Amino acid sequence: MVNVTLKADSNQGLINRNIYGHFSEHLGRCIYEGIWVGENSPIPNTEGIRNDVLTALQKLNIPVLRWPGGCFADEYHWKDGVGPLSERARMINTNWGGVEENNHFGTHEFLRLCELLGTEPYISGNVGSGTVQEMQQWVEYMTFDGESPMANWRKSNGREKPWKLTYFGVGNENWGCGGNMRAEYYADEYRRYATYVRNYSDNQIYKIACGPNEDNYHWTEVLMREAHQHMSGLSLHYYTLPTGVWQDKGEATGFNESDWFQTLKRTLHMEELIVKHSEIMDKYDPECKVGLIIDEWGTWYNVEPGTNPGFLYQQNTMRDALVAGINLNLFNKYNKRVQMANLAQIVNVLQALVLTEGEKMILTPTYHVFDMYQVHMDAERLELDFESPGYTFGEDTIPQLSLSASRDQESVIHVTACNLSHTDELEVVCQLQATDSSVASGRILHHGEIGAFNTFEQPENVTPSEWKDVALENGQLRFVLPPASVGVIAIKA
Ligand code: AHR
Repeated sequence: MVNVTLKADSNQGLINRNIYGHFSEHLGRCIYEGIWVGENSPIPNTEGIRNDVLTALQKLNIPVLRWPGGCFADEYHWKDGVGPLSERARMINTNWGGVEENNHFGTHEFLRLCELLGTEPYISGNVGSGTVQEMQQWVEYMTFDGESPMANWRKSNGREKPWKLTYFGVGNENWGCGGNMRAEYYADEYRRYATYVRNYSDNQIYKIACGPNEDNYHWTEVLMREAHQHMSGLSLHYYTLPTGVWQDKGEATGFNESDWFQTLKRTLHMEELIVKHSEIMDKYDPECKVGLIIDEWGTWYNVEPGTNPGFLYQQNTMRDALVAGINLNLFNKYNKRVQMANLAQIVNVLQALVLTEGEKMILTPTYHVFDMYQVHMDAERLELDFESPGYTFGEDTIPQLSLSASRDQESVIHVTACNLSHTDELEVVCQLQATDSSVASGRILHHGEIGAFNTFEQPENVTPSEWKDVALENGQLRFVLPPASVGVIAIKA
């Protein structure tokens, strides 16, 4: 049993809704097949975007969607992806499987997808192999309201009014696939490229610089020292690999208890990364003007046997649900600095929300966690006081409980909770301070097997259900988390 105190009047700042953001790259079957099937496809679609995926994603109220990469972004030349489909240039997707990219999904199609989802676009520009002029013209094409060569071209391609574009990334992983640059060199390149990412008309751009990989604190130090005045956000990438080794990352399914434990332990490493990168950022930006943008995170396993190794297709189990729940609770906790996060990736790639096979689609356990957690978007974070019991496996111990709480605009308090232990349930007794709420209800994602997942034959093997072990009496909330579970509780007057 663990005692928790929840202070309902302890306003800890808003949880930026963009923490619940996503990422879609021209990689494997994410864009093509997963999102875009084309208008002539037998799969029901809206202007080429498949309806089943669209409807599923609409329910999540996705706040922001990153595109077109990833590594793909630094080889993407946007002009190849506008105008009549039949005239669009074809290229090789060298990063991801060497397959042909026909550019049928380009700027207009992506921004239409965002409109249909009610989502803010976040576009990653090409620093690695693109020019400053190309980047400047892309922003002009999308956002200039008036007469200009790029705005006129946009109009001739069927879009009269400019789009609203807030989030723009100046390169991706420029320490690696985006040009193998040193931090010192990229900092100068960032300053140069970012100068020409202009605010046209009344569009205001939030410029995101390429940040560190994992624990590359030198990168953060240099970028903040040399360029923080020129950026609105600095990115951070951290993936959870069960083994921690890129050559053999571990399997998505059929894993054992040790793999479960190691995966969650490595997920918790995200906290150290946020804290240490934030300390450096605090030195140069004590007022927290620059957001930490965790624009790639999630699990990365060996690909599903028999699939193209360059397509990064993997299954998604209860373990992924825990990874999602733990990370989202952490992002909420550091809401002062963390202003956006984008799970990699939205469909058919890495820790996906939905998987497709031909005309079929399934929701993953990760999808259900995002559905349950959306209550935190733009809510006021509330303080939680507790000491988690330990979860021990072999010689190693990690916390068993991960928690987050917030109050939404209707004064409903939400608590999200994860039980990391694969064997033990956990009873939580929570004193509610400064609130007279008296009704609590919950939903829980749980399965008797830690490796459980959904398939096209059994799409509802893992789905949330009503959480019966939740009670609120005399200001005391009690709930029992089954082993390996993620839950959400709503507390109302
Ligand atoms: O998400 C897959 C890849 O991981 C991205 O393209 C890249 O930015 C990162 O290395």
